[in-house]
Amino acid sequence: MTQSGFEEVKFLAEEFKEEIIAWRKHIHMYPELSGKEYKTAEFIVERLKEFGIEEIYPAFGGTTSVVAYIRAENPSDGKAVGLRADIDALPIEEKNDVPYKSRVPGVMHACGHDAHTAMLLGAAKILNQLRDKLPRDVKLIFQSCEEYPPCSGARALVEAGVCDDLGVIFGMHVYPEIPSGTVGVKEGAMMAAADFFKVELIGKSAHASKPHMGVDPILMAAQAINSIHHIVSRKVNPLHPAVVTIGKIEGGYAPNQIPDEVKMEGTVRTFNEAVRDKIADWMERALKGIAEVYGGEYRFEYIHGYPPVINDKNATRYVREVVKKLLGEDRLIELTEPSMGGEDFAYYLKKVPGSYIRLGTRNEEKGLVYPLHSAHFDVDEDILPLGSALFASLALGYGKTPEGGNF
Ligand code: NI
Repeated sequence: MTQSGFEEVKFLAEEFKEEIIAWRKHIHMYPELSGKEYKTAEFIVERLKEFGIEEIYPAFGGTTSVVAYIRAENPSDGKAVGLRADIDALPIEEKNDVPYKSRVPGVMHACGHDAHTAMLLGAAKILNQLRDKLPRDVKLIFQSCEEYPPCSGARALVEAGVCDDLGVIFGMHVYPEIPSGTVGVKEGAMMAAADFFKVELIGKSAHASKPHMGVDPILMAAQAINSIHHIVSRKVNPLHPAVVTIGKIEGGYAPNQIPDEVKMEGTVRTFNEAVRDKIADWMERALKGIAEVYGGEYRFEYIHGYPPVINDKNATRYVREVVKKLLGEDRLIELTEPSMGGEDFAYYLKKVPGSYIRLGTRNEEKGLVYPLHSAHFDVDEDILPLGSALFASLALGYGKTPEGGNF
């Protein structure tokens, strides 16, 4: 793609700026939880039709996702370029006092998926006007359920064959840790595998004054918490990053009673499958040992969440080149460390090369400094056209040769 091509994309993104921002505000006001994005999907389909995009597949793979194609007028042999935005919201009560505040009690776009949806819609509008310049078909993936691993939209779409005709895929996430308008890239490990676990420690109820008559699951839980936290510090190679957190504990009824049961739930984050398996294994061993020592029982469930997000080297190099040409080298940030957060974009990357990109949205002057999933999170709307321009440029510049990634 020539420099004038990039200028044209930027010009169109700027022209559609108010619209893109209005879409984002609308989606923000009417957030929907994972797997239930019916109105959001309808909104997406309506916009795509308005742009004149005809090949639309709502409810793709039996999910609430919307998949659509923008066909190149002069296609090459190369497979399609996939552009993905996630569309679901979170069960969080919004604390921002803004005119576009969530109208749905207890539900909020606190992870910026409203912005992702609006940016990809903007890119769709741009790309549909530039179909004569497209080197290959573009597949738009508006994916449901990223926030709730049991219903992962990415996993469902991949199983339904969404990657079969893709040569490459790009995903973008707004990121309040880097300045507004910058783009963060990283080759290789980008995000952790995010697993969950449930523990039940079963004792025997007794009066608090007669502990010898019962089996105290609260004491078992205390030992379990201790032992589980020792796995990362004593069983995992210190050069392999891992986190274990117990985020929920429940047990007991009264100050003078030893209860019959304590339940705990938590999460494990890793970048390496062997470490992942090792942690699950050692947790079970610890629980088994504790149950035996105290004369109680245990139940343990380890729920495998999203795999680690591993960015392809060449696809990421390509993103770098596009960012430099579209925005300038000073807007490119090399992320040195992966994030321990999970993301189901990992499933696409297991099938097809691609890159998951961070779009900076931190703006201290506007007070936009809150982390993702905060009830105060908000995006800097001025960057939305930039996100659209970047998505569009990634598709336009990908090149005609089957290997792609060249200009
Ligand atoms: Ni997110």
